[in-house]
Amino acid sequence: MIRESKTMAKVLEDLSEHQQYIALQHMRDWFEQDAHRFERMHQKVGPLLLDYSKNRVTEETWQLLSDLADASDLKSWREAMFGGEKINRSEARAVLHTALRQERNAVVEVDGVNVVAQAYQALDKALDFAEKIRQGMHLGYTKQRIVDVVNLGVGGSDLGPKMVTEALKSFATGDVNVHFVSNVDGAHLHHVLEHLRPETTLFVVASKSFTTPETLLNAQAAKAWLLAQTAWPDDAVAAHFAAISTNLQATAAFGIHPMQVFEMFDWVGGRYSVWSTIGLPVMCAIGREAFLQFLAGGRAMDAHFQNAPWRENMPVIMALLGIWYNNFFDAHSHAVIPYDYGMRSWTEYLQQLDMESNGKNVTQNNQPVNYATGPIIWGSQGVNCQHAYFQLLHQGSRLVPSDFIVPVNSHLPVGKQHTVLVANALAQTEALMRGKTLAEAQAELALNGQDIHLAAQKVFSGNQPTNTLMLTDINPYTLGMLIALYEHKVFVQGVIWRINSFDQWGVEYGKVLAKTIEQELVSGVRVPHDASTFGLIDYYQECYVS
Ligand code: F6P
Repeated sequence: MIRESKTMAKVLEDLSEHQQYIALQHMRDWFEQDAHRFERMHQKVGPLLLDYSKNRVTEETWQLLSDLADASDLKSWREAMFGGEKINRSEARAVLHTALRQERNAVVEVDGVNVVAQAYQALDKALDFAEKIRQGMHLGYTKQRIVDVVNLGVGGSDLGPKMVTEALKSFATGDVNVHFVSNVDGAHLHHVLEHLRPETTLFVVASKSFTTPETLLNAQAAKAWLLAQTAWPDDAVAAHFAAISTNLQATAAFGIHPMQVFEMFDWVGGRYSVWSTIGLPVMCAIGREAFLQFLAGGRAMDAHFQNAPWRENMPVIMALLGIWYNNFFDAHSHAVIPYDYGMRSWTEYLQQLDMESNGKNVTQNNQPVNYATGPIIWGSQGVNCQHAYFQLLHQGSRLVPSDFIVPVNSHLPVGKQHTVLVANALAQTEALMRGKTLAEAQAELALNGQDIHLAAQKVFSGNQPTNTLMLTDINPYTLGMLIALYEHKVFVQGVIWRINSFDQWGVEYGKVLAKTIEQELVSGVRVPHDASTFGLIDYYQECYVS
């Protein structure tokens, strides 16, 4: 049956009306009535399984949410992104992180240039350099082998490579240790460098713009550390520095040898750049083949996203569910819980990906939005989170949808510990869905001979929505799939909210003010501020010990 396409206003009206019905339903009843709910509401893509049956949706909800995707013209936006149109309108840039993981012989043109060929040229240079380091063919100034690589970068030039390096630690081959320094707080650099030797250390200055003060200050401090520890001439540091940037003039001005500069492109956003030369630290850790597998995983998810109908399309399903809760249930946040120690930085990575992309309140057409956009993303590794804030998920007063990421196999199994870990993840999603009724709580207390008046304390309302993403294991391919899945989820939501998910003007304002305040802190000169900021500057100057 061909359905007539609805206007956006009609879709929103239908969804609001439908929400009033769904709000009164409990998922536990749906599971009791329908033994096939999981069958109908899970999706597999290669080694990745998404169970979305523990959500507050029926078949009718899916139809209405699919209408929303259609009314948002999602298909055209998807084509525009993959095709290299300049959909990042406020910066007049194409958005082509997907081109970074295309097959080598693919063609995607921006302004008449095949960016896939461009990307592979830069990637090959970075992969070759990483192999040289791994095989001890790139030596330091004193001809010693490099054993420590320190990435100096922040935001997208840190979070992606750091998360991936940690998550794929079991795939690290060779003798290179990779470290990450992002914070301009000197303690970060200090604690990393205190264990390293200049002769065997290489710094990678990772900055798309090469203007980020935090990163450049850390790079200067790293250079000073090298020179202070050795009697080397200034130019000796060249063997110990590499850079990744779009700003080749600035890398040259910093004194980094062009052979050790790896190009980035303005059609890749920082938070989408782990697939590019920004992945150099990952390449140093896991090597060429594994890195190419990582790209292949991303590519597999791209193909799925481009071809699957909405109802079978993993990123679209997750995006629509997010919008359902955000815009129709007034959920303010979304928790993401990986049950994998290696994935401990996943949430931080995702916070930038999601919140820097969709934390916007103006549409692509410069109109203020009058609806909620990106939610607050939070979470941390299971099971630790269970013993910290899960109480609020179970018995708090807010609706908090969450994603559970659960690898079936561990690369570092210890006794039966991984089974216990997985059991905990599944138990949490079951408890969050089912809850516990007053009658059940009373029966339990009675059985144990306890005061049944306590039953009210032991009621769990349940009906908390969860997605469970199970994957065979965390490996370069599956991790590539997972990252691309969330990238596309964020994209779909941005399209539906009509915002630009690829700029980040909101971060700029604070950066500008920080420059002025920094000068005031040192010089004592004052520019106009509010009384609070003046008071804090005064207190700083009163207490500062030079
Ligand atoms: O925090 C803002 C931001 O521009 C991010 O978008 C970016 O990932 C980060 O700073 C680092 O920028 P760069 O790689 O240019 O140093």
